[in-house]
Amino acid sequence: MDYQTIPKNHRLPGEFWVFAYGSLIWNPGFKYTQRKKACLRNWARRFWQASTDHRGNPEAPGRVLTLVPHEGATCEGIAYQIHGNIEATLSYLDHRERGGYQRQVLPVEITGPPGETRDMLVYIGDSQHPLFTGPTPIGDISRILTRSHGESGSNLDYYRELATALHRENISDPHITHIARNLPA
Ligand code: SIN
Repeated sequence: MDYQTIPKNHRLPGEFWVFAYGSLIWNPGFKYTQRKKACLRNWARRFWQASTDHRGNPEAPGRVLTLVPHEGATCEGIAYQIHGNIEATLSYLDHRERGGYQRQVLPVEITGPPGETRDMLVYIGDSQHPLFTGPTPIGDISRILTRSHGESGSNLDYYRELATALHRENISDPHITHIARNLPA
């Protein structure tokens, strides 16, 4: 697959994988046949996506994760092989990730043994979308996480569930650790 976005009427392959780096790690919400630790090179996880639905509202947007291109960085996450109806899963994910995310297909390395690289679907915040905030001081991110709430719960819970999931998967991420040090006690 060498396309950036998958048109709605694209004929999908029989086997289809999604790479998760945020809430999809601890709460995929769809059925899968395989779940494997994996990584995406030259991308970095950042709390640079405003949330006006899941973890905030239009008056007081929260912050959720996106990926940004970053030469030399590695984002570790989870690769899922979708089980069953791929179209139905994509509709579910499109709705869930409606807050400024776009579908991209990127080469993801499944951690071995045996290791392999596969093209996978990744939801990434569109850097041209108004919900993409760009670089934000860690102190500001921490303050927003502490005070925001949305239809999926508190922003602080999103952060804590992320931190717990990364710990469980033995994934360390300096951006996430840096935020932890700035969260109010
Ligand atoms: C993801 O988890 O892969 C997408 C970002 C999110 O929903 O937190």
